[in-house]
Amino acid sequence: MKPPRYLYLDEWETPAHSYPRQKLGCAEIKAYRITKGVYPMYGVSGFDYFKAEAPLTDIQLKIRGKTWMVSDPLHWKSMLEHADKYHGHVLCAGLGLGLIIHALCDNRRVKQITVIERERDVINLVGPQLPRDNRIKILHGDFWDLDPWVMDKVDGVFYDLFVGDGPKLYPQALRVWFQLHEKWPDAVRRIHGFNNEQLESLDGLLERT
Ligand SMILES: C[S@@+](CC[C@H](N)C(=O)[O-])C[C@H]1O[C@@H](n2cnc3c(N)ncnc32)[C@H](O)[C@@H]1O
Repeated sequence: MKPPRYLYLDEWETPAHSYPRQKLGCAEIKAYRITKGVYPMYGVSGFDYFKAEAPLTDIQLKIRGKTWMVSDPLHWKSMLEHADKYHGHVLCAGLGLGLIIHALCDNRRVKQITVIERERDVINLVGPQLPRDNRIKILHGDFWDLDPWVMDKVDGVFYDLFVGDGPKLYPQALRVWFQLHEKWPDAVRRIHGFNNEQLESLDGLLERT
């Protein structure tokens, strides 16, 4: 058995660390503490765990008191990994802390980024913290109301609307995977929080049957 791969950290910083800690309507950006200890990385960036060797300051987005996004090592490194898979026009479901947008802006193969967010307060709070980059367009609305026919051609879809227990949400993720395929059959699809290579292999199964 291979030994677990650790990411050792005694400090932590992401683009969200420079955001003002403030509340706007139902949305709030807050700092919180990651206590010393070992936390899962699920293989992201080649690590099984990260080890906080000192307490780390991290940033979270709360909406009506519920935590919707954090910028901890698992989430930030996941966003970097997702962003690297895209090119052309990328459609993102959910703005959150906008970490995926920072990561996509660093990918020169990405030519256009459309993000749809249903909470206007999140757009007003996080929107001004995104890079000044004319590839970015933010829409206010529900992702599932988007009509692919009235949009520019989409080369990639990034879906990050699940919050909660991965294994319990897997049946829903499967449904979303195929719904995304129906709407954008030619696009690279990724769902945050799930094994996207495994999901892609289901497409192969469908083609053979
Ligand atoms: C997990 S966060 C996204 C995190 C983001 N990927 C990032 O990098 O920071 C999910 C966001 O999606 C928004 N949201 C939830 N359901 C939505 C929907 N049906 N349509 C559009 N936005 C939605 C939430 O308000 C929240 O801001």
